[in-house]
Amino acid sequence: MPRKVALSFCLALAVAIAGASHARAQTADQAWLKYDIAGRAHPGMPISVRALSKNALEQSAVSELNRDLGRLAGKNADGPGFTARAQQALGGQTVVGTVQEVRKAFPNLPIPTDLKPDGYWIHATEAQGAKSLLVIAGADPRGALYGTFAFLRYPTTAIEKRYKNGQMRSEPAMPIRWVDQWDNADGSIERGYAGRSIFFEGGKVRDDLSSVAEYARLLASIGINGCNVNNVNNAAPFLDPQMLQGLARIADTMRPWGVRLAISVDIASPQKIGGLATYDPLDPTVKAWWNEKVNAIYALIPDFAGFTVKADSEGQPGPASYGRTPADAANTLAAALAPHGGVVLYRAFVYNHHLDWTDPKADRARAAYDIFHPLDGKFAPNVIVQTKEGPIDFQVREPVSPLFGGLTETSQAMELQITQEYTGQQRHLVYLAPMWKQVLDFDMHVGGSTAPVKKIIARKGGGMVGVSGVGRDAWLGSPLALANLYAFGRLAWDPNLSPEEIASEWTRQTFGNSEEVVPTVVRMLMQSWPAYEDYTGPLGLQTLTDITGSHYGPGIEGSENNGWGQWHRADHEGVGMDRSVATGTGFAGQYPPEVAKICETAATTPDDLLLFFHHVPYTYKLHDGKTVIQYLYDSHYAGAAQAAEFVHDWKTLQRRIDPALYDNVLPRLEYQAGHAIVWRDAIVQYFLKLSGVPDAQRRAGNYPGRMEAEDAKLDGYQIIDVKPWEDASRGKAVTCGLATESVTPRSCSAEWTYTGAPGRFDIAAQYFDLQGGSAKFALKVNRQPAGPQSNWAADAILPTRHPHGDNSTRHIVENVPLKPGDTIRVEGTPDASDPAAFDYIELLPATTDPH
Ligand code: GCU
Repeated sequence: MPRKVALSFCLALAVAIAGASHARAQTADQAWLKYDIAGRAHPGMPISVRALSKNALEQSAVSELNRDLGRLAGKNADGPGFTARAQQALGGQTVVGTVQEVRKAFPNLPIPTDLKPDGYWIHATEAQGAKSLLVIAGADPRGALYGTFAFLRYPTTAIEKRYKNGQMRSEPAMPIRWVDQWDNADGSIERGYAGRSIFFEGGKVRDDLSSVAEYARLLASIGINGCNVNNVNNAAPFLDPQMLQGLARIADTMRPWGVRLAISVDIASPQKIGGLATYDPLDPTVKAWWNEKVNAIYALIPDFAGFTVKADSEGQPGPASYGRTPADAANTLAAALAPHGGVVLYRAFVYNHHLDWTDPKADRARAAYDIFHPLDGKFAPNVIVQTKEGPIDFQVREPVSPLFGGLTETSQAMELQITQEYTGQQRHLVYLAPMWKQVLDFDMHVGGSTAPVKKIIARKGGGMVGVSGVGRDAWLGSPLALANLYAFGRLAWDPNLSPEEIASEWTRQTFGNSEEVVPTVVRMLMQSWPAYEDYTGPLGLQTLTDITGSHYGPGIEGSENNGWGQWHRADHEGVGMDRSVATGTGFAGQYPPEVAKICETAATTPDDLLLFFHHVPYTYKLHDGKTVIQYLYDSHYAGAAQAAEFVHDWKTLQRRIDPALYDNVLPRLEYQAGHAIVWRDAIVQYFLKLSGVPDAQRRAGNYPGRMEAEDAKLDGYQIIDVKPWEDASRGKAVTCGLATESVTPRSCSAEWTYTGAPGRFDIAAQYFDLQGGSAKFALKVNRQPAGPQSNWAADAILPTRHPHGDNSTRHIVENVPLKPGDTIRVEGTPDASDPAAFDYIELLPATTDPH
């Protein structure tokens, strides 16, 4: 069986290469580009791989195909590494090139003449052995590279199912497929949850850009063709001449993978770094300054993609300072970029964050449409208005931004977040493709005709932009979060793909092709966004986190009583924001009439957006007859239960997937299950108190088995009020030393006497894992360790330095025997500024069998 021999040789070499690559800091193999997992090799691929030109992208394609074959680039069938028998069995050629090149080399092939830019065509002959031919042709070199990755994406014989008559053809739905990094020059990343920047450190571009090359490779594999590398805030230093030299190095690094560089610019740059007295976009000296700056950029980076602009928003300067419009500013930049083929992505995220919260007509959601709709048709052709998917700010659920229907003469791009700012910050599993897909498929009914968002953004050079937040910690920190980056690229290429299909593709490439593994991971991914919505802010309440702080844990009132305009208007009588035309802010009227009439009344608004559009009493009945308040209770319990289920699901994968990956993910899911309970209890007790309406199932406010720290016999521990109160059980916790005290006790304890029936319990300890130290905890029964996991350290890195829902964390000691009269004791030892604060313990029925 020569083929088998050769293949196992290939696989052995692939493993060796993959092993060697672990030594490097960060590689694409940590994500989905793994060629060494079960079922990945392509047995039918001819082993002599070549490109038809020296083009760098085609060479990248060749190196990628050779990686899959498990060979080093250059060792083709004629070279060393393959036996004569292997050459004969796997002979033939794999050829990569543009359609023109392929037509010249193989004039008899039925090569398409109408491939759109970046598209590809793959053709496989029926012939075997030396006569076999696999052709991967791109409309351009980028297309050839994308075709290569498409071929490699489908492991083993799955690829053959994709062929029609021995051919496979695909073209991207939209030309703009960019990721935006919000990286700062100092190496930090705004809203990034995976370590420091792969691009910058200490005010300049890093010397070692090997991670950037790997990132570009990952991006290319899903068809992403642009990367904006810097934060939309504080962008002025990026136009500094020295920084531009560094940016040119980044562009050089990404170019072989077809990823063009873009940067965010500060509209006030002519003044801030150019020394001009003004940054008025209509001032001739300002225009000249931009022209000169853009020329300097293109001298260094000939394929520079363009600028992204955040202006007149959240403290960033903008054209409003001079009474000018976004179109005035965008067109000045566009005029400078146009001769070079560059574009301006002008963000519609423009709003006043000093709104009067006492004004029932004030509404941040209206801002983008109010500002940009009147400017439709006034933007230069190379300006693309970049609009967040919803009218607020990447909440767990929002309606689609009405601006997608409000600009018919202007190119548009949809901005979404891959980095999970408001959706669990990568500590929670939340697969976002189902959410994005709903937006893409949403029919705006523009002008009375069918107009799904995916069609609107595909027009006139528009597309999709994903704020990615990739950093040095395994790209996105959590391995499962990478499904979001993958899904973003796949949807930007083909918004008709289903989230399940994408999840399955990603899972197969990440975990292998096992039918025992794939359905479990796909199910977990698909259940994760609904679960997160259930235990955070359902019914269109938005995420219900503290919007002026970390955007992470529960903080219901954080979005009220301030000018940021993210209100939900909860009071004793009811909840929700009236955005109707008849009695509210009028936001509903920004949609085309077919959509507006659905959102105008509570009865026609879908339940999942009810409270975004309407203020209703707690007893208002949803479409299935359940009251709003009961839904709030039920969804939070269901969501937290689902989060617990993820842990069980994951445990079924033990020994079926890479052990390192298994071990990496398990504690994350356990953490999530605990934090989902923090969320559940915070929201439930808040609305129970505010509404005064009891939970029909009597769960809200009743916590059987819970023993509050403030009720224990305390030694050294002091009782504190937690803020916001709903983030702790009954609003109180204990702390071993207060930050205001000069002397912190060495350790403190809280002790209860067990009075229930004898039995075995899992004991959950709910503690606050604060930054600035690693406090130690011990759980004891009758002064002896309660079990193998009875000592633990509060050493996670969680937001904020005060005990509340951002850092409330659950630790479980399993299977503890208890009988009446036993003492249960928590001992906390502070470390630096972490005072070993904790909230309660809870006795749960034991889940493991002692025998
Ligand atoms: C969010 C985010 C900010 C970011 C802003 C933006 O509000 O919290 O960090 O700057 O979006 O999109 O510009």
